[in-house]
Amino acid sequence: MLSKMQTKVRLAGWTALIAAVTATSAQTPTTLKEAYRDSFHVGVAINEAQITGTGARGVAIVETQFDSISPENVLKWERIHPKPNTYSFELADQYMAFGEKRHMFIVGHNLVWHSQVPDWVFRDDKGNLVDRETLLKRMHDHIQTVAGRYKGRIQSWDVVNEALNDDGTLRQSLWLKIIGEDYIAKAFQYAHEADPRAQLTYNDYSLENAAKRKGALELIAKLKAQGVPVTSVGIQGHDSLIWPSVEVEDATISAFAKLGVKVVISELDIDVLPPVPDQESADVSMKIQQDPKLNPYAKGLPQSVQQKLTKRYADLFGVYLKHRDVVTRVTLWGVTDADSWRNDWPVEGRTSYPLLFDRSGHPKPGFQAVMQVAAKE
Ligand code: XIL
Repeated sequence: MLSKMQTKVRLAGWTALIAAVTATSAQTPTTLKEAYRDSFHVGVAINEAQITGTGARGVAIVETQFDSISPENVLKWERIHPKPNTYSFELADQYMAFGEKRHMFIVGHNLVWHSQVPDWVFRDDKGNLVDRETLLKRMHDHIQTVAGRYKGRIQSWDVVNEALNDDGTLRQSLWLKIIGEDYIAKAFQYAHEADPRAQLTYNDYSLENAAKRKGALELIAKLKAQGVPVTSVGIQGHDSLIWPSVEVEDATISAFAKLGVKVVISELDIDVLPPVPDQESADVSMKIQQDPKLNPYAKGLPQSVQQKLTKRYADLFGVYLKHRDVVTRVTLWGVTDADSWRNDWPVEGRTSYPLLFDRSGHPKPGFQAVMQVAAKE
């Protein structure tokens, strides 16, 4: 039996311990979203399995660690609007429910892009290219229907995706060929009409490279001068261990910020695999032949490479944090390494390690490093 005094002392001990634990957990965040709460949203792209709940391990990570979601594929034109007059909203609605249930910042990706868009969009019944007015009407109907359906619920839309070539000129997509240069402005106007409160983003890859960055800066400046409602630029962030350098990332964010737009890092992943000829691209149509030399870490990642990846994550998050006045969101393009599109792009069937959670769903050293970057602030 404990004496009254002993009980008192014990209780006091427990109370102190609980207070200490609570204080520590209040001060030391254990999740990405808490660590960056005062700086920017930390988001993640989710796939069908996670949206429908069959990927339970991924779902648990998403809801614990992230406060924003992007749809990896389910809102793309070919998925949501596969045939004329046929919309398929089932998965997109489930995506919305996923985010709303968890009070997340919900991103729409994307409205106008040259990839993952069915060919019928650009053609008539005979297979000939349609005229400007027809394509503008189709674009308008699509944006009105999709952005209109989720009005007030999708906080940020990637309105136009990848309109630029690597040299900074406009990509010769069918959008450009048929409608002309103003297809970009029109897409933003239609999106704004459909949902006046949504943030509207121009999203692209390799914006860190000088020529493309110049082209993008000119494009955004021109749109702003015309009063087009573009609110942010999405730097995709399909990076590698050596590209882009910290200095270049820093300068790129500053350059866009000067135009008066917000910056989001919209699709971050960092590839550790041997570079293929054009490693500074994220062109989804690129296909490089399989070769075992290009897949050296199929059995595991060497410690030395893990360390480089960890440092890269820390360095890049350091840059994003430095710019937290303009960077509003950093989104990882996938939950775990097993989910990443980089296992199959640009070479199919590789074992890639580009994200912050490993194939078993455990946080990688890069995760701890990113947490420490926030803690040092
Ligand atoms: C990728 C998806 O991750 C893949 O599942 C899909 O097969 C192809 O598209 N830039 C983008 C994203 O804007 O939509 C792409 O996503 C990756 C490159």
